[in-house]
Amino acid sequence: GSSSASQIERKPLFSSLDSKDVSSFKEILGDKNVVEDEERLETANTDWMKKYKGSSKLMLLPKNTEEVSQILQYCDSRRLAVVPQGGNTGLVGGSVPVFDEVIINVGLMNKVLAFDEVSGVLVCEAGCILENLATFLDTKGFIMPLDLGAKGSCHIGGNVSTNAGGLRLIRYGSLHGTVLAVTANGNVLDMLGTLRKDNTGYDLKHLFIGSEGSLGIVTKVSILTQPKLSSVNLAFIACKDYLSCQKILVEAKKNLGEILSAFEFLDNNSMDLVLNHLDGVRNPVSSTENFYILIETTGSDETNDREKLEAFLLKSLEKGLVSDGVIAQDINQASSFWRIREGITEALQKAGAVYKYDLSLPVEEIYNIVNDLRRRLGELANVMGYGHLGDGNLHLNISAADYNDKLIGLIEPYVYEWTSKHRGSISAEHGLGVMKANEIFYSKSPETVAIMASIKKLLDPKGILNPYKVLPHSLFSH
Ligand code: FAD
Ligand code: MLT
Ligand code: ZN
Repeated sequence: GSSSASQIERKPLFSSLDSKDVSSFKEILGDKNVVEDEERLETANTDWMKKYKGSSKLMLLPKNTEEVSQILQYCDSRRLAVVPQGGNTGLVGGSVPVFDEVIINVGLMNKVLAFDEVSGVLVCEAGCILENLATFLDTKGFIMPLDLGAKGSCHIGGNVSTNAGGLRLIRYGSLHGTVLAVTANGNVLDMLGTLRKDNTGYDLKHLFIGSEGSLGIVTKVSILTQPKLSSVNLAFIACKDYLSCQKILVEAKKNLGEILSAFEFLDNNSMDLVLNHLDGVRNPVSSTENFYILIETTGSDETNDREKLEAFLLKSLEKGLVSDGVIAQDINQASSFWRIREGITEALQKAGAVYKYDLSLPVEEIYNIVNDLRRRLGELANVMGYGHLGDGNLHLNISAADYNDKLIGLIEPYVYEWTSKHRGSISAEHGLGVMKANEIFYSKSPETVAIMASIKKLLDPKGILNPYKVLPHSLFSH
């Protein structure tokens, strides 16, 4: 396991599950939705990376908001700790128990409740899988404002709880802008509205966006979706140095601004990894270069949008910013380009142990940390940089044969100090989870963290909601 997670001790104030608890849960949920089966628990106790592992003896599957609030009330009265779980694709160990916390998964709550074709507002239950929502919207001529590689398993409730960024943020903004309302803990905090504008006091939904299950369980979500536009184009380009990547970003914002819908990058180490570990993938450009960029445009004028992207590519080639580039000829080719970028996470997983860092940094600094770390680690590990360059979000990943203390000691706190020194964030989009709960001070002031702790205390006085995650353990010693 990871070094910081293994230093945590179980809080003695939390009760241990007994047979009376199990019977009570069965009364509320019915036998079938109280899971004690070892195999299913093994899966639910283990995170996507197989890096974090809990030892929960129970998973609860509520079917509606009322059941969620009943089981939470019960857990609160007994001081039983819980971990809310969605699709379990989180990358910071937030979605699995640290010890024996009861797992609450809202996966059975997967209904679309309403869709308004005029406003584009979708109201659904938190357990809807992102890709299923996208498929539903497609039939209506709309798209979700977010898209990410984990779409086939992640839940919208998990997306909201982590404030997931992903591939479209550059165009549609973060979930703080597109999520219009959430309902948390069933009837306790019913804020579910569908208004685009509502300035009546503090907007409490924002507390739930990105709070990683530490303040409540999200049960319903209302979200602003976007019309599906007729012309989507994708370019895959290669360039020789990071300075060119930066210049291409500036040029793309200037020249493709109103149609730009994604600007992603990967370095050649990431490309190599994908080519070596995923089947049926090939480099779309003929030359091997140090960097690759994906530029997607989305607009409504097929001829014009395509010409615009072609002209942009040509101009960038002439200026020497780009050494090679192709524009996808059809949807299959576009998917094969996306497969390279979206497949990095899976390829890293197959390659061995992976140390993941998800940093916000000034764009001009982004690749300096990759180079610094490469020098620092030498032959010990393979350092990769990729991510959402258009948003200033680097995914710094270190791939090695195993998780070991020597390597961790060389990486941490070095990476966090580096990020803090450059006024970046140690979590751009994945959250803090258990991995970075104790590192929050690298990105937030003590005063800010103290207010966060007061809010936590107010909404979860007994501290049963996703303990050991998000906030430093030292703040909650009792
Ligand atoms: P889980 O992993 O189950 O949970 C994540 C956190 O949210 C946990 O703290 C959990 O307690 C809490 N939680 C889950 N559901 C609820 C709920 N209903 N109420 C309250 N709390 C809840 N992330 C990005 O931001 N951008 C990306 O581009 C991206 N790409 C990814 C690609 C891959 C291949 C993988 C494996 C992951 C990726 N992620 C990305 C990380 C992850 O998918 C997202 O953070 C996602 O939003 C998590 O959703 P989930 O349903 O799987 O949540
Ligand atoms: C991505 O952008 O690919 C995701 O955030 C997952 C990852 O960081 O590996
Ligand atoms: Zn990402």
